[in-house]
Amino acid sequence: MKKTNNIKSEELFKRAKELIPGGVNSPVRAFKGLDIDPPFIVRADGSKIYDEDGNEYIDYIGSYGPMILGHNSEIVNNKLKEQIDNSLSFGAPTRLEVEIAELIRSIVPSVEMIRMVNSGTEATMSALRVARGYTGRSKIVKFAGNYHGHGDCLLVQAGSGALTHGVPSSSGVPKSITDNTIVAEYNSIESVDNIFQEYGNDIAAVIMEPISGNMGVVPAAQEFMDYVRKITREYNSVLIIDEVMTGFRVALAGAQSLYKVEPDLTCFGKIIGGGLPVGAYGGKKQIMQCVAPLGSVYQAGTLSGNPLSMTAGITTLTYLKNNPKVYEELENKGQKLQKGIEKAIADFKIEATVNRVGSMVTLFFSKKKIENYGDAKKCNIEVFGKYFRAMLQHGIYLPPSQFETFFISQAHSEEDIENTIKAVRDVFSTI
Ligand SMILES: Cc1ncc(COP(=O)(O)O)c(C=O)c1O
Repeated sequence: MKKTNNIKSEELFKRAKELIPGGVNSPVRAFKGLDIDPPFIVRADGSKIYDEDGNEYIDYIGSYGPMILGHNSEIVNNKLKEQIDNSLSFGAPTRLEVEIAELIRSIVPSVEMIRMVNSGTEATMSALRVARGYTGRSKIVKFAGNYHGHGDCLLVQAGSGALTHGVPSSSGVPKSITDNTIVAEYNSIESVDNIFQEYGNDIAAVIMEPISGNMGVVPAAQEFMDYVRKITREYNSVLIIDEVMTGFRVALAGAQSLYKVEPDLTCFGKIIGGGLPVGAYGGKKQIMQCVAPLGSVYQAGTLSGNPLSMTAGITTLTYLKNNPKVYEELENKGQKLQKGIEKAIADFKIEATVNRVGSMVTLFFSKKKIENYGDAKKCNIEVFGKYFRAMLQHGIYLPPSQFETFFISQAHSEEDIENTIKAVRDVFSTI
C-alpha cells in the first residue's frame, strides 16, 4: 500500500523528542540522516506492520531480528496468555529456565552450560568477563564493523588499518577501558595473525559475528573462520561467537553449524526471546563453571530468565526445531528476493550489490562486493537515503540504515516478495 500521510506520527515524534533523547529508545529508530520522521507503530500482524496514520507496510525489520515466525504469532501469544495467569516474575528458579537451557543445548551442541540475561549487550559483556576470569588475561580482540551491543569495552571501531588500538567510538567511554580492546580487520587472516604475534599470550578472547549483520550482511569467509578458531586454540584464548543475530536465524543451530566451527562460548539474544527482552551466553562447561555462584565471576540480573521471555523463547525455538522446513522456505524466499533485486540492479544499471545469507539480506549501494567494514563504508549513502524514503512511500518498511540487515520471516508470502521486487524496480527507475 502506498503511504498516505503521517500526521499522527509527526505529532508523536514531536512530543517524544521533548522527553526521550532523539525521540527514541534506541538510536537507529530515529531515522537520523534520512530527512524524514519515523512512523509510529501501533500493531503488526504476520509480515505487515501498521502505523498510527493507518499506513500498512511489508515489514523487513522484524524488530531487528527476533520475529522469525512473523508478527502476532498465535502459537507464541497463546502460550504467553497462559503464562501470564501464573503472574509475571518471581525472582526464583523455574521449570521454564531448565527447559530453555535443555532445548538450546539439544540444538547447539557447543553449549554445555548456559546463563540467561536480558539483552544481547548483557550477553556479550558477561561472556567477555567470564573469558577474562577464566584465562586471567585482559586483552580482547574484536572486528571492525562487528557490533556486540553497547558495553563499554566493545564500543570501539577500527580505523582503516589492519591493527588498530581501541579508540572509543562513544563519548563517555574512558580510553582506559578500551585500552585492552584490539580491533582487527574482518575477513583478514593477516590482521588476526599480526595481533596474535604481538599480543597472543595476553588475549583473553576473540569475539566475532560469524555473519556480520551490523555493517549490513557480511559473512566471514570459511577459511577466515577456520583460522580464527585455530589461532585462538593455539594461544588458549576463548573464542566467543556472537550469534545474537544469527542464532536460530541462518540455520536452526546458527552460523556455527554452517561453518562447522565449535566456539568456546556463544552469545544469543533476539529469537531466543521470541520478541521479548532476552539474551544468553553459554558454552564449554569448564569455562561456564567460572560463573557465580559456582565460580568467582560475578554476573546477575533481577529479571534474568523471567517466565514470559522464557515462554516466548521456548515456544519459538520448539516450533523451529519441530519445523525444519522453515529454514528451507526462508532460503527460497531470500533467493527469490535477491534474484529480483539483482535483476533490477542490472536492468536499471544501479551501482549496487546484494549480500545475503538465508533470510538476512542487505542491498549495498556499491559496485564492489562488500567483504569488510572498509568496503561497507564506501557505499553511496545519499542514494541509500533516496531509495529508503521511496521504498517507505511504496509501503516497504526497511531498516533505516545502509549498515543494517533486513530480515525475512516465515510470514512473508510469495506475494510480499513479488510486491517488494516491484517496489524496488519502481524506485530504481527514479533514482
Ligand atoms: C550481533 C549482535 N550482538 C549483540 C547485540 C546487542 O543486542 P541487544 O540490542 O539486545 O543488546 C546485537 C544487536 O543488534 C547484535 O546484532
